[in-house]
Amino acid sequence: RVPTVGIDIGGTKVMAGVVDADGLILERIRAETPDRSKSPQVVEDVITELVLDLSDRHDVHAVGIGAAGWVDRDRSRVLFAPHLAWRNEPLRERLAARLAVPILVDNDANAAAWAEWRFGAGRADDHLVMITLGTGIGGGILEEGRLKRGAYGVSGEFGHMQVVPGGHRCPCGNRGCWEQYSSGNALVREARELAAADSPTAHRLLDRVGGRIGDITGPLVTRLAREGDPMCVELLEDIGRWLGVGLANLAAALDPSCFVIGGGVSDADDLLIAPARDAFRRQLTGRGYRPEARIVRARLGADAGMVGAADLARLVARRFVRAN
Ligand code: BGC
Ligand code: NA
Ligand code: ZN
Repeated sequence: RVPTVGIDIGGTKVMAGVVDADGLILERIRAETPDRSKSPQVVEDVITELVLDLSDRHDVHAVGIGAAGWVDRDRSRVLFAPHLAWRNEPLRERLAARLAVPILVDNDANAAAWAEWRFGAGRADDHLVMITLGTGIGGGILEEGRLKRGAYGVSGEFGHMQVVPGGHRCPCGNRGCWEQYSSGNALVREARELAAADSPTAHRLLDRVGGRIGDITGPLVTRLAREGDPMCVELLEDIGRWLGVGLANLAAALDPSCFVIGGGVSDADDLLIAPARDAFRRQLTGRGYRPEARIVRARLGADAGMVGAADLARLVARRFVRAN
C-alpha cells in the first residue's frame, strides 16, 4: 500500500502528486509545461525534477505518467502530441534511464478515466466514457473495469473528430476538430475574440485584465461567470452545448451508461454541464426511445489524470516487485 507518484502532463501545466492506495493525494507540486518549440528533453527534465523533489519527502515506489498524446499499445512511446513536442518519443525508456523506479506511461485522459472509475464519479460503472476538457479534449473508454485502447493504443482521441467541416484549424493538422469548439483553448479563444471586438458586453472581462486581452484565461472566465457576468455565462454555455453535441455522437457509437467530465474547464460545474445535458438530450439519436447516459462532473476534478496515473503505476510496481 505504498504511495506512488502520478504526473499529469497537459498543454499548459505539469501536475505531480504523491497518491496513496485509496487515491488520496498526500502532496502535490506543479510546473509549467515547457513551450512546444522546446525539445522533448526539456519536458523530461521537468518530470525528473518533480519526481526527485517529491522523493526527498516520500518513499516513491513507482511513477505513472499521464501524457497528453497518442501513447502506443506498449504504453511506452508517445507517437504524437498536438500540444507538445513529442513525435515518436520513447518516453518510458528516457525516464527509466533517469529515475530508478518502475515507470508507466499512459494517455492523460485514459488515466483520468481510470481514476474516476476507481475512486470517483463513475465508481465501478461498467460502461464509462471519460472526457477531459483542458487545452484540448481527451477521451477514455472504460468497459467492465478495463481501459479500451484499440488496436494501436490510440482509441479515445475524441477531441479530433470533425464536428465542423472547414472549421477552426487544429494543431493536429485538421480543421473543425471537436476540441476547437469545446475545450479550455476554445473558451479562451472565444473570450479573447469577443474582447478584441471591443464589444461592450466584454467590458467587465477587459477591466479584470487591465485591457490586456492576452491575459484572459479560462479560470478567469469561469470566475466571472460565477459572479454572474452574462457574457462569461454565455461563453461557457457555448462550450457546454458543443460538449453535449459531441457526447450525443459518442453515445451513438459507444452507448455508455455514464459520461464523466473532467479537466480544468469542468471547474465551471453546472455552468458547463447543464447546457451540455440540454444539448445532449436534443441531439441524442433515438431520444425518447432509449435509456440516456448520465453526464456527471469528475469527482476528482482536474486531479483525475494525476491520481489515475499514480494508481496505474501501482499495478506496474506490483508486477515489478514480483518479477525481481
Ligand atoms: C490529445 C489527446 C489528449 C487531450 C487532452 C488532445 O489534443 O490529442 O491525446 O488526451 O488533448 O490532453
Ligand atoms: Na485516450
Ligand atoms: Zn485536431
